[in-house]
Amino acid sequence: MTNAKLTSLMSRGTDFLGCETAILCGAMSWVSERNLVAAISNAGGFGVIACGAMTPDLLDAEIAATKALTDRPFGVNLITMHPQLFDLIDVCARHAVGHVVLAGGLPPKGSIEAIKQKGARLICFAPALSLAKKLVRSGVDALVVEGMEAGGHIGPVSTSVLAQEILPDMAGQVPVFVAGGIGRGEAIAAYLEMGAAGVQLGTRFACASESIAHPNFKKAFFRASARDAVASVQIDARLPVIPVRALKNAGTESFTAKQREVANLLDSGAIEMMEAQLQIEHYWAGALRRAVIDGDVEGGSLMAGQSVGMVTREEPVAAIIAQLMDEAAQALERRTA
Ligand SMILES: Cc1cc2nc3c(=O)[nH]c(=O)nc-3n(C[C@H](O)[C@H](O)[C@H](O)COP(=O)(O)O)c2cc1C
Repeated sequence: MTNAKLTSLMSRGTDFLGCETAILCGAMSWVSERNLVAAISNAGGFGVIACGAMTPDLLDAEIAATKALTDRPFGVNLITMHPQLFDLIDVCARHAVGHVVLAGGLPPKGSIEAIKQKGARLICFAPALSLAKKLVRSGVDALVVEGMEAGGHIGPVSTSVLAQEILPDMAGQVPVFVAGGIGRGEAIAAYLEMGAAGVQLGTRFACASESIAHPNFKKAFFRASARDAVASVQIDARLPVIPVRALKNAGTESFTAKQREVANLLDSGAIEMMEAQLQIEHYWAGALRRAVIDGDVEGGSLMAGQSVGMVTREEPVAAIIAQLMDEAAQALERRTA
């Protein structure tokens, strides 16, 4: 089911993204590769390739392979601290990727211009209203507002508070997509009514039939409830690590040990802060790969958001999107009944 109200509320998002439903599948390292991305876009949503730590050659191959599976638009998510960020931007331009998402902090000098000069639209994460304003002043075309309920790297503020703080000021200026903790269409309807142009989900799509995640990874999601998806804890005030939300397992403990190891290296002067932070990020990338690809659900990282309790079985992407749209449409119908 769909209704005119839902189509109209999503129209800004669908116009901006060039797809049928303003539902993005947020980039998930190792998970958001050609198969899931193409499946999302083919089902009318908007898939986003997670570049993560890929080299420019690997990204080039991934974009080409995704294009072979879909002729619909999709985006590419680049991490700002990637040492070859500008080469990755060139790869996206060569493929005429329409939308680039920059994650992992403020865009470095020259990156906004480089992305936009080549004709792509730029989407950035806005963790606070002041930063949202700054990003839009710098030329960013759309924002994602992601709360701490989300899976993966998170900020300190909840989705509901960020949405209330940022939508009233920014939704009139650029399309704003709300992310974090969304598992059902009723929530989508509510954020659209608050002014969002659309939404971004990750956890809900991670276990879709088209996702290449290992069966053990998927099983862990099906068994988990919201309270199992916990944020990592920073153990050393000198080492500011961005918290990561993941299912509790033995890997949660080894992250504490890793932080201690890196903090000791910092103390001894063996490494600088930048290198310390890179080591932490490499740790996460490796741990996530072990869980997603190898199925090591004990030692690896099971990044998941609090909406994991609403992921109960493997379903095709099209069925998940249809259900979300149905729930959103029914919620809006009830308002007018
Ligand atoms: C397994 C996993 C890996 C993720 N990896 C990334 C990433 O590489 N880059 C990024 O910008 N966001 C990443 N995210 C966040 C998602 O793109 C998305 O914004 C988030 O999952 C939305 O919140 P939800 O999990 O509550 O649906 C990841 C999330 C998960 C669950």
